[in-house]
Amino acid sequence: MGNKIQTLSGYIHEYQKSVLQPEEFWSRIADSFYWKQAWSKTLEWDFDGPDVKWFLDGKLNITENILDRHLFTKGDDPAIIWEPNEPGDKHKVISYRELYEMTCQFSNTLVSNGVKKGDRVIIYMPMVPEAAVAMLACARVGAVHSVVFAGFSSTSLADRINDCEAKMVLTSDGNYRGAKQIPVKEVVDEALEKTSSIEKVIVLNRTGDKVDMKEGRDIWWHDAIEGQSKEFKAVEMDSEDMLFILYTSGSTGKPKGVVHTCGGYMVYSYYSFLNVFQYSQGDVYWCTADVGWITGHSYIVYGPLLAGATTLMFEGVPTYPNAGRFWEIVDKYKVNQFYTAPTAIRALQAFGLEPLEPYSLESLKVIGSVGEPINEEAWHWYHDHIGKGNCPLVDTWWQTETGGIMISALAGITPNKPAHASLPLPGIQPVIVDSEGNELHGNNVEGNLCVKFPWPSIIRTTYGDHERCRQTYFSTYKGMYFTGDGAKRDHDGYLRILGRVDDVINVSGHRMGTAEVENAINEHPKVVESAVVGFPHDVKGQGIYAYVICDMEGRTEENLKKEIKDTVRKIIGPIATPDEVQIVPGLPKTRSGKIMRRILRKVASKDISNMGDTSTLLNPEVVEEIIQGAGLK
Ligand code: WT7
Repeated sequence: MGNKIQTLSGYIHEYQKSVLQPEEFWSRIADSFYWKQAWSKTLEWDFDGPDVKWFLDGKLNITENILDRHLFTKGDDPAIIWEPNEPGDKHKVISYRELYEMTCQFSNTLVSNGVKKGDRVIIYMPMVPEAAVAMLACARVGAVHSVVFAGFSSTSLADRINDCEAKMVLTSDGNYRGAKQIPVKEVVDEALEKTSSIEKVIVLNRTGDKVDMKEGRDIWWHDAIEGQSKEFKAVEMDSEDMLFILYTSGSTGKPKGVVHTCGGYMVYSYYSFLNVFQYSQGDVYWCTADVGWITGHSYIVYGPLLAGATTLMFEGVPTYPNAGRFWEIVDKYKVNQFYTAPTAIRALQAFGLEPLEPYSLESLKVIGSVGEPINEEAWHWYHDHIGKGNCPLVDTWWQTETGGIMISALAGITPNKPAHASLPLPGIQPVIVDSEGNELHGNNVEGNLCVKFPWPSIIRTTYGDHERCRQTYFSTYKGMYFTGDGAKRDHDGYLRILGRVDDVINVSGHRMGTAEVENAINEHPKVVESAVVGFPHDVKGQGIYAYVICDMEGRTEENLKKEIKDTVRKIIGPIATPDEVQIVPGLPKTRSGKIMRRILRKVASKDISNMGDTSTLLNPEVVEEIIQGAGLK
């Protein structure tokens, strides 16, 4: 693994090289892969388009680098360890050879069911090895997968299917999530009533629930793979062919399909995995995310498997059957690298130290955090009680759009600092800018976080709407990718992420557009208008607070609040359910009709000092009424 940085001076050296000669730098990393045809040019870019291309004319299939390449050297090594929801149930260990065969067999299945290169396939599945096989099989046949988190509602699923005009859905009969059983196939059936592009649905038998199978459309997974060959010649892909679409929330109501392409994503997911986690052959690595999010794509499936690692996949939740489940799994498989979200840490911290007592956790070498800023208290708890004070804690900052980790310590190589993502990875050139877009040099500066040079896994477009991609990321500051986050470079030169500066909130590490939640609330027939803001929440990081103007006739306030929450749950999914709903007589607006969210954010966080000048509002009296309604006076 010649691409692994081993020392601090090695990091400094590689970083300098990556900035001075980015093309030579990335060419060297890309050279360690198998390409069907070498690239003719390393990089072409223009952030105004935006138009970014890496490894031009290179031909490859990412699965050859995951499967075929490892077949002879590590065919018998474990690729995926799967731990089921129920602790007593049988776990699975899938070797690289088995993963190869399962992927090829499912590739043949996709093709026999009409999937061709470039077709979009939706994956709406539980955390089972077949979900990874589904992703890899799509990649092998050249189809574009779009994984949809199986907690999203039928409406959210239908919107995504329609946006990318998907041809097929891969799903299961039901999902186990802790003590709950979720009727996934039913959700798919409901979604498909609102779509017209889906030709086939392949259904994995997971829970044995009785489901409706629509003649001619729905096929059981086990029937579909029967008799299919376990060999499949990988389809040749161009570096810049689409690998996947992953939908994520933005500041407008409609989720956008972030597009990643084959060559650059392969190189960066691998390189960042290897270096951040300092993976060594034979280690057992575990990321607790769901494959429905980018973390699951880059750091459960692609990054680790490209590196020939053993990646653990867990079907369940941290608190089932008790709050010791994560630690039981760490000991059971002797996990060496453990990667989770601050919200999970805070939730487990609330149970105290008792659930930890039966476990040694001595196998752990590296622990990681992702998804939102990790507060100092959670950082110390994680570091002291899980890492036992001697595991580097990597606080990894990145986004769906960046494809891989951008700012993070390299475990044990570059220094750790609580609540600081710290330093950029080689090849990443972050800048802090003021509101005019001037770069703020030096230490002790705070502003908006941008990146001024492309890296291999940068977002290429938003599916079907390139203009939206330009507008959202490349138009705020000319010549730079704008992240939407605020950041500070502290007196030591370490970067600290301060959170979103746009109308995006981060609930338990899940991204939610305030407009998206408002649109859902407005679907309720009694709702006249609504405004949604985030507020600090002890466990979730941010909670969702909704101010709603309603026609109260025939309803009590309690009923209405519940109905509004149910509406959001139904339209988006449980993760978007507002924590608080406040019925208000009006919303504070400027004379041009813009909602003053600053005021609403202050009330939601129970801080009514410094409300600022409200006299210029169209309706200043409403502020007092909202404060009283919130019980703050
Ligand atoms: C947003 C991206 C990247 C995978 C999970 C979320 C926030 C992410 C950190 C961190 C502070 C973080 C940012 C970012 N975020 N990691 N280590 N420290 N904030 O992916 O859904 O695309 O969300 O999550 O605000 O913009 P995502």
